[in-house]
Amino acid sequence: MTAPKTIRWGILATGAIAVTFTKDLLVDPKTRGVNHIKHTVVAAASSSSKSRAEQFLKDTGCPSDAKAYGSYEELVKDPNIDMVYIATPHSHHYQNAMFCLEAGKNVLCEKAFTVNAAQAKALAMKAQEKNLFLMEAVWTRYFPLSVYVRDLITSGRIGPVARVLADNSMALNPEESFNDGKHRMVNPDLAGGALLDLGIYSLTWVFQTLYHTQPESTRQPPKVLAALKSYGPTKAADEASTIVLNFPRSPEAGGDAHAVATTSLRVATAPAGNGDAPGIRIQGPNGEIQVFPPAFRPTRTKLILRDGTVEEKNWSQPGPGGGSGWYNGFAGGRNAEGEGHGMFWEADEAATALVEGRKEGKYEGLAESILIMEVMDEVRRQGGLSYPEKIETTKYPVQL
Ligand SMILES: NC(=O)c1ccc[n+]([C@@H]2O[C@H](COP(=O)([O-])OP(=O)(O)OC[C@H]3O[C@@H](n4cnc5c(N)ncnc54)[C@H](OP(=O)(O)O)[C@@H]3O)[C@@H](O)[C@H]2O)c1
Repeated sequence: MTAPKTIRWGILATGAIAVTFTKDLLVDPKTRGVNHIKHTVVAAASSSSKSRAEQFLKDTGCPSDAKAYGSYEELVKDPNIDMVYIATPHSHHYQNAMFCLEAGKNVLCEKAFTVNAAQAKALAMKAQEKNLFLMEAVWTRYFPLSVYVRDLITSGRIGPVARVLADNSMALNPEESFNDGKHRMVNPDLAGGALLDLGIYSLTWVFQTLYHTQPESTRQPPKVLAALKSYGPTKAADEASTIVLNFPRSPEAGGDAHAVATTSLRVATAPAGNGDAPGIRIQGPNGEIQVFPPAFRPTRTKLILRDGTVEEKNWSQPGPGGGSGWYNGFAGGRNAEGEGHGMFWEADEAATALVEGRKEGKYEGLAESILIMEVMDEVRRQGGLSYPEKIETTKYPVQL
């Protein structure tokens, strides 16, 4: 057996998701049956201060020789980095990712990929020009649970998918939680709103079940009808969006298929944490697949067939295990002892692509990321939501 290849990561930004991702990244891949690669962190950078980067490295348990940088400029110059993980607010992804690509770095960039499709296209073109790897970090696509759901669909057990209902909504009280309007969830300067932050997961479920499961040669973009509710206090951010999609398909493949993707900051997919509400329903003539919330980190599925078959599955995330004294979670939330968050699956895919010489993610290539950005552009167009020019522009560089 050949020795595992080690991918050396640089972490750009030190906020909430950067912490969760980095802790997961450092879990031994063997704990999830992955033996061909390993991950290490060689540097982290904070735009605020070097000391913040130092603290981040300590808090996430990075190797003691990992470098702390007080600017992103220093990070991208580090010759020891194979791949940069970008974890800034989505308003900044375009400028940050372009900056990394220009410096010759491979990039895994948090969702939403960019503010709009034009920016996503410009990044894809730059990656191609520089022959670099570029992937949107839609971690859910790489979960074994998602692979299982897609396999169920392509195996034909529920028949051709006719309809997908997908919700990702959080019962937040935005006026209370984000009362100064500066938080990235509601701040127009940071491309705030439900659609780009949460709705991307509703669309992820629609696309990975209805679009990605079709042969590449027959996939066609959907028609989109949308309603968007603006968030009162900051005006230019949505607090709720509802999207109806029609996916054209040939009669032999089942004909047109419909989807409804919803998202809201204010109402919940699962009121009072009720995990029994299937936030995702994938329906065909022979039955349906239910995926239980949260849509971004589901751990339970149910297959219900017309003939009475019911197959329920639990998909807890692997990790160092009970007794390890290791914990992960997001923004103060804590998973069970030794249970990973699930962000390592996308990291494994990015690392594997580097080893294999691929330039895009296996379960969501750049064309699909761009198409989803186009859908979100259309939702914003119909809903009358635009962001400040400095974050919508494809001009580079722009100081944000
Ligand atoms: N995959 C997931 O489950 C998941 C979950 C949450 C968020 N996300 C995505 O990850 C990204 C970051 O989210 P987060 O929750 O980690 O946000 P966060 O806690 O606010 O962290 C964002 C970090 O970006 C850096 N930054 C640079 N310029 C900034 C600016 N003008 N304003 C604010 N921060 C700035 C800061 O790090 P430095 O000071 O160190 O530079 C900051 O700590 C978003 O695109 C979000 O959609 C993904």
